Formats: sequence, structure tokens, C-alpha cells
Amino acid sequence: MSATDLFQDQIPLLKPWTGEEEVRAAAEVILSGWVSQGPKVAEFETAVAGYVGARYGVATNACTTALHLTLHLSGVGPGDDVVMPSHTCMATANAVHHAGGQPVFADIDPRTYNLDPQSAAAAITPRTKAILVVHQIGLAADMQPFVALAARHGLALIEDGACSLGATSRGKRVGGIAAPTCFSFHPRKMITTGEGGMITTNDAALADKARILRATGASISDLERHKAKGLLVQKYGEVGYNYRLTDIQAAIGIVQMKKLDAMVQQRTAQARRYDAALAGIDEVEPPYVPPYATHAYSSYLIRLRPGACMDRDTLLRRMAERGISCRSGIQPLHQEPFYEARYAGVHFPASEDAARTTMFLPIFPGLTEEQQDRVIAELRSALGR
Ligand SMILES: Cc1ncc(COP(=O)(O)O)c(C=O)c1O
Repeated sequence: MSATDLFQDQIPLLKPWTGEEEVRAAAEVILSGWVSQGPKVAEFETAVAGYVGARYGVATNACTTALHLTLHLSGVGPGDDVVMPSHTCMATANAVHHAGGQPVFADIDPRTYNLDPQSAAAAITPRTKAILVVHQIGLAADMQPFVALAARHGLALIEDGACSLGATSRGKRVGGIAAPTCFSFHPRKMITTGEGGMITTNDAALADKARILRATGASISDLERHKAKGLLVQKYGEVGYNYRLTDIQAAIGIVQMKKLDAMVQQRTAQARRYDAALAGIDEVEPPYVPPYATHAYSSYLIRLRPGACMDRDTLLRRMAERGISCRSGIQPLHQEPFYEARYAGVHFPASEDAARTTMFLPIFPGLTEEQQDRVIAELRSALGR
């Protein structure tokens, strides 16, 4: 079965917006003789950092590894706790463990699905080293309370912007708001390089060290050595990693960055159409956008209102039977097998309610109005309307 066959007869949840331009860009790199991390990675870093309004971009092979480096370079190590939302991808918490720390979960604001500052404040103890704020599913969080909280307790602040490239909070783009920010370029995110990640930061020392650590800990990159015609010799001062993005991936990313604004516009227009249609369906609540933020709509998350005629899983099943690919909302990490013993008896009501009642509808650049009308019609029919 070819990859395109996978999408026949059903409306997928997502589909990356890639085409001939990405093919040509990747092919050029393959034919150039330099396929690993090199000039295209540097160009991609400049494009992303420039877009978000940060001084530096450091590309990595995933957001997980970008987070690991950022946490490590922010001082998180064994014995340190990191306060973060339970309502996020396991990868956010995995990165804390990779750095040697322990995630300490807090609840979300039920309307925005982003970390609740009061819940985060209540989770701070003398062991806390950092606060990790996630800009969830394309909606930028308000960083002001977290900047104040981190300053008050002398903590590092880190942002996980995996899903939210292109979103803004108080007029600033995620990645250029307050703290070092990590992005993902997995196909479910705003732009894709297949797999990939990046740190954006204004901190020159953090950027320099991240560049060294992502590439085996070598003091000099392959590109610098190449440019110096082999006269430079690298030194190793620390244990490093292989977290490198390739130039093939970066070339795709450069093309994707040129399309980013158009992608945000398309997603926003689709969200407006869903919002309007859902206004006529009492059981369903559309996503909320607070006045300080813009949503990039990497996902369109709806919530079944209390008293709806069926539960979320029944609705999901019915949509699947109708050929519409939806997904349940984010499952809270404190209820995952890895954490449940540690969090036995602990409840984060907003995260748990979101896990029970929310689901994603298809949204992606290239989703046609006809397809979207079918999603809406099938949603009505699945709800028995
Ligand atoms: C909020 C969040 N952070 C981090 C990640 C990890 O990204 P990656 O798969 O690029 O490591 C994801 C991936 O789904 C995510 O949703």
C-alpha cells in the first residue's frame, strides 16, 4: 500500500503540506555532497529564529532532544524538580528525566488547556529548579505570571512550543516571548521536516553550549572545520550527544517556513468555519481564545458539554465509522502507568475533565471546504441531530 492510499475514503486528522518544492529542496541537498548538518541547518536556524523574534536558533533532531539540552543547560540535574503540566505529551516529561530531574505535575486552566499559574505556584518546593510551560495545541500561553513566579522563586523558565510555532501571546510570537523555547517539526506540528526540533533563545551562552552538546560535544562543527580547510581541530570538554538535524531535513524546513504564514491563515479560516458551525450544536464547545493570545490551530480541540447526549468515546467511535479520523484529547500524565503510583489519590480536575470530554477534529492546510462540511455534517449525524 502506498502512503497516499492511506488517506483514501476517509478524512484524515492531519496531513502535512508538502509538495514539489520540498522534493526539489531535499534533492538539491542529496545531490550536493553535503547531507548531514551543515549550511542548510544554519539557514533554517536563522529562518526560524528570525520569524519568532529570537537571537539564536539551534536545530536538533526532535523537540524531545531540544528540551533535554535546554533543561540541562538551565541547570536541571539529578535531585531537581521541574514543575510542568500533567496535560501534555509524554515527551515533555521524558526530557526532564533525560536531564536527570523529576517532573512535578500541575493542573491547567480549563478554558485554554495551558498551565494554570496558581496550580504551578502551589507545586513549587525547595527542590524545584525550573518551570516548564507548554504552549499547548497551538494556543500561546500567557507567560507574564510565569516570568513573575520564576523570578520570585529564583527558578529557570523554559517553554515547550512544540505545537505552537506561529502563535502569539501579548503581541510576541512563541519562541520570542520570555525564555528558551523548544519546537517540534514532527508532521503533527505547524511545519515539518519529518522529524526535527529547535531551541530558540536570546541567551548566547546557552545557544553556544547547545550547539556543542548536540554534536558529540565537539568544540568545532563539521562546517567550521570544512570552511577552515581542515586546519581546525575540535576539543571535547563534556559528554555530548548526537542530536543533529540533517541538511536534507533543514532544506525541507526552509521551504516550510516560507509557507508558515499561509498555513496559519488556512488553519485559522478553517477554525472560524468550525466555530460558526458548532455555534449551532449545543452539545459541543469550540476552542476558547483569550484576548491576549492568537491560536495557530495546530489542532482543533472540541469539548463535549456536561449533559451531552453521549460520551466522548461513543462520539469518537461514531465518527470513525463515518470515515472521519478524530482523536481523543490529551491524556494526563499523572494517570499514565509510569506515574500513577506516585500520583495515587492526586487529582488535577481540569486535566482529568479535558481527558474525558475533549477530542480533535481534522484540521490541516489543504483540508477543503467540502471535506470540512462533511466533518460537520457527520458530527451532527453522529450526535443524532
Ligand atoms: C507538547 C509537546 N512537547 C514535545 C513533543 C515532542 O516532540 P518530538 O516528537 O519532536 O520530540 C511533543 C510531540 O508530540 C509535544 O506535543
